[in-house]
Amino acid sequence: MSVSRIDYVVRPGGAVRGRLRVPGDKSVSHRSIMLGALAEGETEITGFLEGEDSLNTLRCFRRMGVEIEGPEDGRVRVRGVGLHGLEAPGEDLYVGNSGTSMRLMAGILAGQAFDSRLTGDASLSRRPMGRVTEPLRAMGAVIDTGEGGLPPLAIHGGQRLRAIDYALPMASAQVKSCVLLAGMYAEGETRVTEPAPTRDHTERMLAGFGYPVRREGATAILQGGGRLEGGAVDVPADISSAAFWLVAASIAGEGELLLEHVGVNPTRTGILDILERMGADITRENPREVGGEPVADLRVRPADLRGIAIPEDRVPLAIDEFPVIFVAAACAEGETVLTGAEELRVKESDRIQVMADGLAELGVDARPTADGMVIRGGRIGAGTVDSHGDHRVAMAFAVAGLRAQGPITIRDCTNVNTSFPGFVAMAGEAGLTIEERSDAPA
Ligand code: S3P
Repeated sequence: MSVSRIDYVVRPGGAVRGRLRVPGDKSVSHRSIMLGALAEGETEITGFLEGEDSLNTLRCFRRMGVEIEGPEDGRVRVRGVGLHGLEAPGEDLYVGNSGTSMRLMAGILAGQAFDSRLTGDASLSRRPMGRVTEPLRAMGAVIDTGEGGLPPLAIHGGQRLRAIDYALPMASAQVKSCVLLAGMYAEGETRVTEPAPTRDHTERMLAGFGYPVRREGATAILQGGGRLEGGAVDVPADISSAAFWLVAASIAGEGELLLEHVGVNPTRTGILDILERMGADITRENPREVGGEPVADLRVRPADLRGIAIPEDRVPLAIDEFPVIFVAAACAEGETVLTGAEELRVKESDRIQVMADGLAELGVDARPTADGMVIRGGRIGAGTVDSHGDHRVAMAFAVAGLRAQGPITIRDCTNVNTSFPGFVAMAGEAGLTIEERSDAPA
């Protein structure tokens, strides 16, 4: 099957205004399927992200015998099979572009009685999996990887897992979650200590499903052998998708934007903190809590941004937002310096190199470093950039169009669908004109 590749052509300028509700949170959507499937009883999900990444998770659990209705308008009903009720999939579990699916599911699959094999697309097949196979092996899991610890992951079932006391070598919520999920199947108390706070959706949702998780400082702790109870999950709008509009409405010359029902879990709000330090005008309205996750509406008005040194402790809390933060920096007065962000090199693309190349193509003074970037704000020109199949890079350059001197062509934007279905239509509603062009088959 050949999939035609989509390029974007972004018309320069535009005002950003109105009210938007961006699609559901990707991290929460993945976890709602995983925990819903492993729970006893039914789970009713609303606001589910109907993007390719979370749909791949959903398809995998269907393949393991879980009955799942939907999604329809963000509604999904999962008939949980209990922690030990999954069935052997009978074929590879393909997770496409999704690192979260592969790393979290590896933890779950390590505890099953059956063998399984996780595979992904070309981008995911280049991403490191040693970070999950290492602690899982220490727990007694038996896993074969491709060369150099890369996917696919062949997981041999029927192992007895032991609890582990694990210090994460990097600030990664995916690795933390993988070990905690495996910990449910392990004998004893699993402890995971993080070097810096990372998103805590797994811990919150486990608790919401009635599985006790304790926290002692930087350590999350759970006891194996518990059970999950199905219930309702209301997925907030994804702050990582809202991020494009936070920057867009800040750098657009005029307009005012209200982003509705955005998840503002403090382990995700690094983007708000960073943009506010840069001088952005963002207010949180109507703060509330839905299903254990804090939510607010975010009002954004245009502002003159200034360059800053981004505090390193904010980096894990904004880890997915750097492509668009770099665009904000390109529009800011003075220099923005990012350090301590080497993790960006192993995302859906090498986001330091790919963003630096694209910004340079547009005439921006962007200097990549081993663990970050130095950007001097100024003029954004016109030109052609390559997203390298990275959804967030593609959307970041679309936002740059608001301040560009001429059209920006962005190559390879098909994967925007992994996290933000309907992005182009929503951009049109907000005031940013993007033309989609189908190119040669990918
Ligand atoms: C995610 C964690 C982050 C993030 C990814 C989603 C999650 O990855 O980049 O998009 O849902 O746990 P790391 O934990 O590897 O930094």
